[in-house]
Amino acid sequence: MVLSPKEYRRRRQRLLRMMGKGSIAIIPAAPVAVRNRDVEYPYRPDSDFYYLTGFAEPEAVAVLIPGRKPAEYVLFCRERDPEKERWSGERAGQQGAVEAFAADDSFPIDDLEDILPNMLEPCQRVYYAMGADAELDRRVAEWVGKIRRKGRSGISGPLEFIALDHLLHDMRLFKSRQEVALLRKAARISARAHRRLMRTVIPGMYEYALEAEFQHECARQGARFPAYPAIVGGGANACILHYIDNAAPLRDGDLVLVDAGCELELYASDITRTFPVNGRFSEAQRTLYELTLQAQLAALAKVRPGNHWNEPHEAAVRVVTQGLVELGILRGKVAALLREEAYKPYYVHRTGHWLGMDVHDVGDYKVDGQWRTLEPGMVLTVEPGLYIPPESKGVAKRWWGIGIRIEDDVLVTKEGHEILSAEVPKRVEEIERLMARRRR
Ligand code: GLY
Ligand code: MN
Ligand code: MN
Repeated sequence: MVLSPKEYRRRRQRLLRMMGKGSIAIIPAAPVAVRNRDVEYPYRPDSDFYYLTGFAEPEAVAVLIPGRKPAEYVLFCRERDPEKERWSGERAGQQGAVEAFAADDSFPIDDLEDILPNMLEPCQRVYYAMGADAELDRRVAEWVGKIRRKGRSGISGPLEFIALDHLLHDMRLFKSRQEVALLRKAARISARAHRRLMRTVIPGMYEYALEAEFQHECARQGARFPAYPAIVGGGANACILHYIDNAAPLRDGDLVLVDAGCELELYASDITRTFPVNGRFSEAQRTLYELTLQAQLAALAKVRPGNHWNEPHEAAVRVVTQGLVELGILRGKVAALLREEAYKPYYVHRTGHWLGMDVHDVGDYKVDGQWRTLEPGMVLTVEPGLYIPPESKGVAKRWWGIGIRIEDDVLVTKEGHEILSAEVPKRVEEIERLMARRRR
């Protein structure tokens, strides 16, 4: 359990209150993912499940039933098994689920079939996230179907399925003090790793070697797993948005784009920096870099309570469009180009996303069709980019093959915002100064 037991209890109690009497929530743990044959990926709990339980074992189902006596929170999980535990480590078992994880009651996961249908029977509403676990979807539907058929003998049974995500994801959107502390720490670790890359890169090094430096630095600081596969793209590879081959040599005179972030205790960081492989920006690189940075600063200035979700994006595309016109990459009136979204061939993605336990975290971006208002406790990325693929028609050759993104992790505060990833330099002079101190 990463956070204090109280925090998980508070979350369950909030959810129980919002669900109301007559309802049940069924939340499964993530299945184990097989990598190949009998090799499994390291287990990563499902974020929703872990958010409510703090329980990191697979083969578990949490059940919440508001007002149910004597147990509102029931955790189904694996039984203790000394022989299996010798191979794969300790299990909480039913006693541990109650004592260490504060379940009101716990049963072996193998008894789910016998017990859960009876718990469902008196409930009218089932909160459940369809589509995550096909096998459980089928079983839940079957149990509900059976109860309904019994309806003729006087048992009413569940009438309604409700997506659990709405309530839960709105809760997850607002980070508590403990969550912010972890996000801040994750961002700091990644920031240090990004600094290390700037101090390490030299022409001829391979993209994967730079990735390895990043992983080493994060793991060394206790964050063993990346929040997503690192993107390390030298030169024109930076124009491929999800480039994760990371297999090419880094060339003298090219930029390298590194989009990498560690996960710490299930909280993500997500940072991008773009810097010159040889330590000095060329004139063309510097020009596009400065434009991207201006767009990012304009976007960041819009991150404050009361502004809506899209304001940072709107600010970024305004700066980018204006800049591309000045450089002759776009031609026309800025207002018209903005309306036509003429920047899109060069600025292909949006300016950010929510950040939390998942790198592209949960939470609605619109409410009733309107962009959501930013509020303290929300955490997002701000990450404009400019990409001019080689052979771009109608674009002068000097810009070809330059891809730049600058991405920070940002907490909305009462006063405005806090940049969690501020420790990595992003101004040209700062980057060049740091890189001048490179080990040779
Ligand atoms: N690293 C994924 C993203 O920036 O959204
Ligand atoms: Mn990223
Ligand atoms: Mn991102």
